[in-house]
Amino acid sequence: MAKRTYNDPVKQLSRQKLKEFIQRHLTHKRPEEIKVICFPGAEAEGEEALEVKEVYDLCGIPRANIVGLEVGKEEEARLRKANLGLEVILQDAHDFFKETDRRFDVISLDYKGQRTWKERDTIRYIAGKMLLTSGGVLMTNHAIKRESSPTQLDYLYRGPVSEVIRSLFGSARREKLDKIAELESQGADVEAILELTGNNLDTLRTMGISKETIDIMMGGKADLDPRSSIMVRLYNQQYEMINKIFSSARTDTRINSLKEAMGLKREKGIEKSYLDWGSTKTFLFYAMQQLTESAHKQNPHIRIEDLASLLGLFQMVENKGMLCHQLERYTYTSNKNMNMLMDIFQFVDMPRGLVTRIGDLIEVRPLQKFNGEEGILMNPFKYEKPELRRRVEATVRKFKEVSVYHSKGLEIKPTYLGSSYNPPQRNSKTTKQQAIELMSVGYTPAEIAQEFRGFTKMQLAAFKAWETMTKKRS
Ligand SMILES: C[S@@+](CC[C@H](N)C(=O)[O-])C[C@H]1O[C@@H](n2cnc3c(N)ncnc32)[C@H](O)[C@@H]1O
Repeated sequence: MAKRTYNDPVKQLSRQKLKEFIQRHLTHKRPEEIKVICFPGAEAEGEEALEVKEVYDLCGIPRANIVGLEVGKEEEARLRKANLGLEVILQDAHDFFKETDRRFDVISLDYKGQRTWKERDTIRYIAGKMLLTSGGVLMTNHAIKRESSPTQLDYLYRGPVSEVIRSLFGSARREKLDKIAELESQGADVEAILELTGNNLDTLRTMGISKETIDIMMGGKADLDPRSSIMVRLYNQQYEMINKIFSSARTDTRINSLKEAMGLKREKGIEKSYLDWGSTKTFLFYAMQQLTESAHKQNPHIRIEDLASLLGLFQMVENKGMLCHQLERYTYTSNKNMNMLMDIFQFVDMPRGLVTRIGDLIEVRPLQKFNGEEGILMNPFKYEKPELRRRVEATVRKFKEVSVYHSKGLEIKPTYLGSSYNPPQRNSKTTKQQAIELMSVGYTPAEIAQEFRGFTKMQLAAFKAWETMTKKRS
């Protein structure tokens, strides 16, 4: 029986895609200057660091510039023994990025499993501590299979619900949120809510994984450092006031809280309430957009979408976020019959010219009164009508030229690279040695018992336990 390792054709093709992306886009540095961090892998002896051999070697990047991260002791030992000239570090990526201040031009996170809070937080550290250089490449690879309900819910709020808030305004938004709130209070499952927002689990993943990475990178320090929240830092006084205004409503369902918050009423204060139900700081910003909407009522000569985008840009500049300049997305089926989603991003710092433009347009005004309530006006409309509109539009246009995500959005669908899964012959018999070998490359006792004759699930589990124990002793 063929051994299943990372040495498989479709995985090879995915490495080729990464190599080509680096060669195409990381052109502002000479190969000798490029610093890389990756999970080189060492699934079997003789197959160490295939990513280094098939990607970075071919790009001409010296091995001495490469950090190989590995969380597994056996794999790490194999990598060291292979003596490939890399810097090998035995540590979980999450902890590494949390602790380090080292910056890289390529960060490649070739995970085996699904995206969880840990992988998300890893991106937060990369964004918040500015560990990727401008023009740098970030690769993430995750297994995609049916997510647990909490994960689906999490994606739902980060994705479709935030899209509703972002893309709809006024009564259309309120209507949609009302409907979602109604479904939610009736205990409807995620799929029913998804349907209402025109989404399915595939688009949900796009938002929960790929878009989330873009959002976190755009947020820069925002998600990591509460003090860098734009409102706290820039609008301290106003922020206090918003918190007070948000203090009067009670909490029902999460979406109701959100609705109330959008109506500028909330019990615990805006920040705590959003973060309580798993939101990111980005959501805080939507509340600011709501305020903008009120501002728009006073100054209808400017399109609200433009203003909202502009405020997003402003927040980004403040928090040193990065823009996604290039994006390629691939899916494939691994030889373990796992569907993978690989995103390759190039992120850039906000171009200086754009920062100046935004600074020119936005200015903070002290507390204002509108609609009989106290609040703030973030955009004071520094310029008179036609001039302002022209400037805002030009700035947003320029931004879209730099940000591929904002110009193309979710149209960047993944390309399927194929499958290297060969289902084993059903009902053939397996030996104990073969079974142990299969388990060592990730098969579970249940999978083997289902596909082969010879042993029960319990027997296989016992082999596995025995193997693990004897390995520990030796
Ligand atoms: C998918 S394999 C890497 C394959 C390799 N990039 C290639 O192209 O052949 C993932 C490797 O990274 C390790 N790994 C997974 N998650 C990790 C994490 N959070 N931190 C460090 N290493 C991790 C795994 O133990 C495994 O050896």
